[in-house]
Amino acid sequence: MADQDGIQDTQKYFVDIPMASEPFTLRGSNSRDWGFKNRLSNIFHHETGKTVMLAIDHGYFLGPTAGLERVDLTIVPLLPYADTLMCTRGILRSTIPPTFTKGIVLRSSGGPSILKELSNEEIAVDIEDAVRLNVAAMAVQVFIGGEHETKSVHNMTRLVDIGNRYGIPVMGVTAVGKDMVRDAKYMRLAARICAELGAAYVKTYYVAEGFDTVTASCPVPIVIAGGKKLPEQDALKMAYRAVQQGAAGVDMGRNIFQSEAPAAMIQAVGKVVHENRNPEEAYDVYRTLKSETK
Ligand code: R5P
Repeated sequence: MADQDGIQDTQKYFVDIPMASEPFTLRGSNSRDWGFKNRLSNIFHHETGKTVMLAIDHGYFLGPTAGLERVDLTIVPLLPYADTLMCTRGILRSTIPPTFTKGIVLRSSGGPSILKELSNEEIAVDIEDAVRLNVAAMAVQVFIGGEHETKSVHNMTRLVDIGNRYGIPVMGVTAVGKDMVRDAKYMRLAARICAELGAAYVKTYYVAEGFDTVTASCPVPIVIAGGKKLPEQDALKMAYRAVQQGAAGVDMGRNIFQSEAPAAMIQAVGKVVHENRNPEEAYDVYRTLKSETK
């Protein structure tokens, strides 16, 4: 208990200075509670409102994916350059140092492997474990138009309800089936459904035509997945175009960890996302950093 001797008169009321009330500017999130916003701030950088989320959750249905065979050796060195890490709880507990204090986005749905129908997922984590792991968000796959569309949407809405109870945001991950057209019309549909049903933010793919209509019609932030490995310059162009057309950053995996120089690539992506550097400038950064690491 504070020592009651020597209590000083209170004086510093600054009566002429109104108390600051900062708006929370992340798209669609201003009316959330403190813990929820605090977690989102551990994903989206408070100055730029954007994120470079490093996605390494592929093993949840693919097993040991190229570039992720040894997460300890290939991914842990990249952590200083990521704003957020998206992974499974298995990799988190076994391999990611608990001294990593940026946001963890926990892969929270799963079930089928690459050998089965992928849309047949279930919720794959208990909220108590997500709380125990101190995650910034939970990620759930939503298969709009897929065989198990309703079930996957229901997985998301259940996680949203549970997450809201504890102040943990949910990222809706739009999964596009092999037989579906990956265009703006589909992305608008899928992203908007995720947002309407409570996702705090949404991951889609970038589409060359009309991506700005996807971000405009989604009331919460959109981040883009990188998709299959592209030449570095093309991946930087895609990230640049997405951000210029309203994306709040990237959730990028293979185009970083399968790059010839992953540390250089993630830093170049950061230039595009946080500093609005154009793809040519960012590619120069990539080449310079790559040559320095040889
Ligand atoms: C799918 O395996 C995951 O949701 C990935 O996190 C997502 O596809 C992003 O990874 P990539 O940039 O490799 O597509």
